[in-house]
Amino acid sequence: MDFDQVVRGRHSVRDFDGRPVPEKDIRAIVEEAGLAPSSANEQPWRVYVARGDVAEKIRIAHEKADMAGKSGHADVPVFHRMDYGPQARRNMDGFGTQIGSYSARAALGSREKARMGADALAQVDSFSAMALSNGRLFNAGTFVYLTLQQLAPWSLLDLGAFEQTLALAAKNLGYDSIVAYEFIRYPEEVKPVLGIPNDELLVMGMGIGHATDARINDVHMRRMPVDEYLTIRG
Ligand SMILES: Cc1cc2nc3c(=O)[nH]c(=O)nc-3n(C[C@H](O)[C@H](O)[C@H](O)COP(=O)(O)O)c2cc1C
Repeated sequence: MDFDQVVRGRHSVRDFDGRPVPEKDIRAIVEEAGLAPSSANEQPWRVYVARGDVAEKIRIAHEKADMAGKSGHADVPVFHRMDYGPQARRNMDGFGTQIGSYSARAALGSREKARMGADALAQVDSFSAMALSNGRLFNAGTFVYLTLQQLAPWSLLDLGAFEQTLALAAKNLGYDSIVAYEFIRYPEEVKPVLGIPNDELLVMGMGIGHATDARINDVHMRRMPVDEYLTIRG
């Protein structure tokens, strides 16, 4: 795929068809992500992948905890919105407005809607598409978890580079993805299932697979015009 098509084609998908990514493609994508730069070639990342029934086990536990209103307790501290600077706060408000306008039905593909029937559909009406899709871990058939052995700021930068390279490598092979805090909200539902040691930090999670025709998948989040954040002198 053309580089520009890969970069511009990647966007967060919030409803997948649940088919797992074949192991050989996962290996190729993760190996390519490992080409990301890191400070002093630190390569601090570790990658754990859940597919098929293992992913389903995590997804069911997650949905239960989410529906029960269990509060998140990720290994990475979550900042309050008010702790961000004005630029980030304004963009986060814009995100809320853009995605908040989608009702739960927008998070369901046409096949799932047909299967559910009118009564079950009416029951989801009280949710937003964001809440429904997040609670279901986006119905992805493959979850990729990224861990660190230390929360050093530079290791986080390295992991961010790894994460984006992974999303682009996936896109290049024809897979959609989403990076989401939602995957790491309850570390205890993930670590024992994947054999992640307790002293390793579950830093980020991604869903990978194929998008359904759900309307939420058509959302393309707005970006700031480049002149709002770029300074060039000389
Ligand atoms: C670190 C990180 C955490 C995120 N967490 C979530 C999440 O929990 N739920 C969600 O729906 N999207 C989540 N996202 C996706 C962002 O909302 C999305 O990347 C952003 O709005 C830009 O849209 P795009 O990815 O479609 O270009 C997260 C993205 C990143 C990078």
